Amino acid sequence: MGYPEDMQVVDSLGRSLRALRVSVTDRCNFRCPYCMPRERFGDRHDFLDRSQILTFEEIERLVRLFVGLGVEKIRLTGGEPLLRQELPTLVARLRKIEGLRELTLTTNGTLLETLAQPLREAGLDRITVSLDSLDPARFLALSDSNIGLERVLAGLQAAQAAGFGPIKLNCVLQRGVNEADILPLAEFAREQGHILRFIEFMDVGTGNGWKLDRVVPAAEVVQVLATRWPLESFQRDCPNCVAQHFRYTDGQGDVGLIASVTEPFCQGCDRARLSAEGKLYTCLFASEGLDLRAFLRSEATDADLLAVVLNRWRRRDDRYSELRAENTHSGPRVEMFHIGG
Ligand code: GTP
Ligand code: 5AD
Ligand code: SF4
Ligand code: SF4
Repeated sequence: MGYPEDMQVVDSLGRSLRALRVSVTDRCNFRCPYCMPRERFGDRHDFLDRSQILTFEEIERLVRLFVGLGVEKIRLTGGEPLLRQELPTLVARLRKIEGLRELTLTTNGTLLETLAQPLREAGLDRITVSLDSLDPARFLALSDSNIGLERVLAGLQAAQAAGFGPIKLNCVLQRGVNEADILPLAEFAREQGHILRFIEFMDVGTGNGWKLDRVVPAAEVVQVLATRWPLESFQRDCPNCVAQHFRYTDGQGDVGLIASVTEPFCQGCDRARLSAEGKLYTCLFASEGLDLRAFLRSEATDADLLAVVLNRWRRRDDRYSELRAENTHSGPRVEMFHIGG
């Protein structure tokens, strides 16, 4: 697509638009209490029906448009993205979009055993798997489901066998809940060649019982790791990376810390998020999204869509994590499983 050369895709704080996270379903086979607490999102919860979620054609059209605006990275998310029927077909379609540098996926890993190979063949570049504990009982409690840890471990093996390596592992730490998992997870990642990332527990959504004293600060995690394996920090070649990077000085790999609470990274935030129903969010903590589906299902041309997205991005001034400390706003906030983290 040809866009005017003077088209500056920067927001009101000077941030470019470089990454888009695309949620392909709001459903999940887990009920992690920090994301979809079962008492609020039980089996009878009213999830989106098929007519409400974007079709593959609609997603492809939007992704093509965003890539035209400078987006280089697409991450497929959910809910649990592997619950979306025919996901490899979508991957294959997106992979063909010229200018897209990287196509990745964040999953809970439970369905990877059968889907890793088809996803790889469809052209998926990388995979991130959420894994909060290696203790079978704690794993069940943290995901509040009856799907055991062994399913995720088998999924990880299948992903490695399919050629997805190194795989990133995401562990959300909560004070008094899974700090005991820090060293076992690090050991597992070192042995298997995975890149482990510890994420600070965040106040996303409206019902996850977040309190500052339940956050385990990234700096503390580094100290715990260093008691066992000396570490050194290093800069990765990605200026707007969400993670701080450390490597073990014995050469046994890297570990990342996502300090979104104690050391916010809004300054470089170049990510937009698209929900399964086609709403565009410019912050993980946004209360409202822009309904792109309404445009897609009207007579809007690509130029119309482009103007709407550009206008939204240019007005963007989100920096929720930086404002958190002084924030008194307690209004509605999009749920994590609508925008996939
Ligand atoms: P890569 O580093 O390219 O693999 O991508 P990523 O780090 O964005 O992927 P991932 O989905 O694994 O992100 C890890 C987690 O970091 C997310 O799920 C969020 O919990 C958190 N995170 C990612 N982006 C943001 C952001 O823009 N703001 C905040 N506050 N947290 C984010
Ligand atoms: N705080 C931090 N991370 C979270 N995730 C989900 N909810 C939260 C939260 N409240 C993580 C998941 C997954 C990623 C997409 O976001 O564990 O790895
Ligand atoms: Fe599902 Fe991921 Fe939310 Fe857990 S964090 S309930 S796996 S979408
Ligand atoms: Fe970006 Fe919002 Fe996260 Fe800040 S809080 S890094 S603006 S998504």
